[in-house]
Amino acid sequence: MTEFLRELPKCEHHVHLEGTLEPSLLFQLAKRNNITLPAQFPESPEACIERYNNFADLQDFLDHYYIGMSVLLHENDFYDLAMEYFTKAHSDGCLHSEVFFDPQGHVERGIDIETVVAGFDRACKQANNQFGTTNKLIMCLLRHLPAEAGMQTLHSAKPFYEKGIIHGLGLDSAEKPFPPHLFEECYLFLKESFPQVGLTAHAGEEGDHTYVSNSMDLLKVTRIDHGVQSQNSTELMARLAESKTMLSMCPLSNVKLQVVKDVSELPIRTFLENDVPFSLNSDDPAYFGGYILDNYVTVHTRFGFTVDEWKKIVVAGINGSWCDETRKNQLL
Ligand code: ADE
Ligand code: ZN
Repeated sequence: MTEFLRELPKCEHHVHLEGTLEPSLLFQLAKRNNITLPAQFPESPEACIERYNNFADLQDFLDHYYIGMSVLLHENDFYDLAMEYFTKAHSDGCLHSEVFFDPQGHVERGIDIETVVAGFDRACKQANNQFGTTNKLIMCLLRHLPAEAGMQTLHSAKPFYEKGIIHGLGLDSAEKPFPPHLFEECYLFLKESFPQVGLTAHAGEEGDHTYVSNSMDLLKVTRIDHGVQSQNSTELMARLAESKTMLSMCPLSNVKLQVVKDVSELPIRTFLENDVPFSLNSDDPAYFGGYILDNYVTVHTRFGFTVDEWKKIVVAGINGSWCDETRKNQLL
């Protein structure tokens, strides 16, 4: 079955490049860049793996994730990180990736956004040349920072949107204390400046279903990252189906961050039966114990989908991608 799942034309829409920082690369970069990790951080790659099995919730993970990314300093670090991800995604049979990055997590440490984007963009182009896979960069704003900081970040990223190097905008970090309405101005600004840019936001991971509908109403997103809590509103599920708003679900992440105890508890069959489009993704695979194929395999062990059901899932992922029609037709 794993080979069948590997061969499916998979697209990934929800993976944070900083969340692909494997403990081995993390410690290698700490050494290369002379960075001393804080005392509360695990001492070795092995200790990291132990710690990653015990995240209490999203915030507990985020506290660790922001320390982890502190080893990334130079353009080559960002390049190496992204190339490790693209290589792994390719070997998992992922044909198209739309990847998040968190520039504010680097700029606040004194690194220029130009350095971050140059490394990631070079890796996107290299992966396309080497593997034939297609990729798009999506910049995320950190919702625990004020909207004014988000606006500054958008201004500094304008040249990359103009050149088509960054293709979308997302919103991540601690969800519940920072609801979508706080970022209305940021989304409106980008939509007015670049109407063709894709808009998405994390919603309904820990926040309730109103975070999903408010993201659609106020931020005008056409995609929702996670969206699990949409299951609690039949009205919202009907709206997602009708508007073809795709949820980028992350099964292993939801277990590691205690959203559910087991993947079998996720509303995946409910969404499928109600025509709510969704894709299956890895979120922060270095932290959550699995890349895209591991997520597919785990879902299969819990739901045992038929070949036709799997086809419906991957077709929804292709149609929900932000690539052009030519590429979509190649993938279908
Ligand atoms: N940043 C990285 N992973 C995240 C997640 N699962 N939710 C919110 N912010 C994140
Ligand atoms: Zn995420």
